[in-house]
Amino acid sequence: MGRVYDDVRLAGAYQAGNEMPEASLRAWVELIGSFSPRSAPAVVEIGAGTGMFCAALARWRRASLVVGVDPSVAMLAQAGRFNEQTGVHYVGGSADAVPTGGQLFDLALLSRVIHHLPDRRACARELARILRPGGVVVIRTTFRERLDALVYDYWPALRDVDSERFPARQEVLSDFTACGFSVREEASFAQPVTSGLREYHARMATMPQSKFTHLTAAEFQSGLRRLEADAAAEPVTRPRPVVERYDVVVLALVQPLDGSG
Ligand SMILES: C[S@@+](CC[C@H](N)C(=O)[O-])C[C@H]1O[C@@H](n2cnc3c(N)ncnc32)[C@H](O)[C@@H]1O
Repeated sequence: MGRVYDDVRLAGAYQAGNEMPEASLRAWVELIGSFSPRSAPAVVEIGAGTGMFCAALARWRRASLVVGVDPSVAMLAQAGRFNEQTGVHYVGGSADAVPTGGQLFDLALLSRVIHHLPDRRACARELARILRPGGVVVIRTTFRERLDALVYDYWPALRDVDSERFPARQEVLSDFTACGFSVREEASFAQPVTSGLREYHARMATMPQSKFTHLTAAEFQSGLRRLEADAAAEPVTRPRPVVERYDVVVLALVQPLDGSG
């Protein structure tokens, strides 16, 4: 499932289709950075994709180092194109094989990636290796039991698809606590992603997320037509921002694995 992002079309559509208004991205980065055990943290983003969070963390949280790891060459090419920045390095790798030494990072971000991992526990073990003691993992996702995005109003079949793909909260917590992490904080955080339905429609028309590959062409077109009609009916002068909510879990490394380093 993770390899879906090797698709050059999807990688090309991802950046524009998932950008956030600057204020929303900044709010997210402030929240994520607030969990860091130190100022100017060394950050690793697992499944960095096109690098939106890597660049923003370097820019606004003054991270001392940001390493974005992703197995997809196509996504990393987009990161180099759109989110190159001083202090940010993009490297090929995966959640269970990060090509760096141990005990290097203060904060690891996993944004919208946990559902792609074939072996979450191997990822937790790898993070226990590369984080410093006291370092934190910030998981940004939607747990299976809380699938509440607007996208499901237009493509209801995606709710079933996502309830298969997304892990339940307790499954994720168990995998990390088994590897030396303890739950430090859980939150739910929502920010506008587009200014209104017109912009949302324009984005969804590009199928900017892997979930759309699970729909037939007819299912996709039917949802898109309904969204287009609603967008056309929205008053141009009073668009209603589309808000997306995510679950956030923060786990602290309390017991580094033997032999890390
Ligand atoms: C939905 S994108 C998220 C990108 C970025 N984190 C964001 O929030 O915008 C998911 C990313 O996870 C990557 N991915 C898939 N399988 C992975 C794995 N096993 N380890 C690390 N990253 C993986 C994909 O290549 C893709 O770039």
